[in-house]
Amino acid sequence: MTTLSSAAQVIGVFDSGVGGLSVLKAIRKEHPTVDFIYIADSGHAPYGSRSAKFIQSRASHIVSALVSAGAEVIVIACNTATAVAVEKLRAQLTVPVVAMEPAIKPAVAHTKTGVVGVLATERTLESLTVARLCSEFGQSVKLLLQPCPGLVELVERGELSSDFTYEYLRKLVSPLLDQGADTLVLGCTHYVFLEPVIRSIAGPGVEIIESSGAVARQTMRYLRNEKSSVTSESFGREIFLTTGSPENAQAVFSQLWGAPVEVRGL
Ligand code: DGL
Repeated sequence: MTTLSSAAQVIGVFDSGVGGLSVLKAIRKEHPTVDFIYIADSGHAPYGSRSAKFIQSRASHIVSALVSAGAEVIVIACNTATAVAVEKLRAQLTVPVVAMEPAIKPAVAHTKTGVVGVLATERTLESLTVARLCSEFGQSVKLLLQPCPGLVELVERGELSSDFTYEYLRKLVSPLLDQGADTLVLGCTHYVFLEPVIRSIAGPGVEIIESSGAVARQTMRYLRNEKSSVTSESFGREIFLTTGSPENAQAVFSQLWGAPVEVRGL
């Protein structure tokens, strides 16, 4: 397995697939000089319809690989893996673990109509994490929990704006709008790449909230002091790995990352 041998701090990031690249982008924006190793478990995506045990075992395997490769901080760039595996991963690891959850709290603070739509995987919506968020913050508002089977697969194929994607999203989102939702939570990191289509369906009056910025700020807490002036030599590097087919991943990773990248097999 590839390792980075620079003096820069190394952050390990993983997701069931390519969705976590939305989180990686947010962290990269905040932290230009750290090095990243990103693992997409695309060979086993989607996690959203799998058992908790399966996801825990995959997540455990992947974080071990990240730590062996030199990761000093782990970012779980996946709501589903966080919901079912974060406690086990924290018990397994000695390095800090940054995790994420659907942004229900800020969405509740933002809504004016008192109706919030939450788009996430089935496994996330059924989790104790979401039950806790609903009971803690959802008492005074109506939370509409909308599972979205099949959306992760569309993003894994890079099918972000096809007619099919638009039509499928319209079927998922329109009922939430019809019930008065003025705020939508993207509770899955893959869905962030569908935000332009969701926005075109929801219109400008609807707020769309996701958690990547919060995860980036949270990750900052674990970073050593960075150089105050960033030069081209001090820019951090990214290593992209997948458990799926690297050949197939190349195009989608490059599309989502916004620049050509090399993807290797784990
Ligand atoms: N990106 C993952 C999340 O945030 C997708 C889970 C899946 O593979 O279904 O939940």
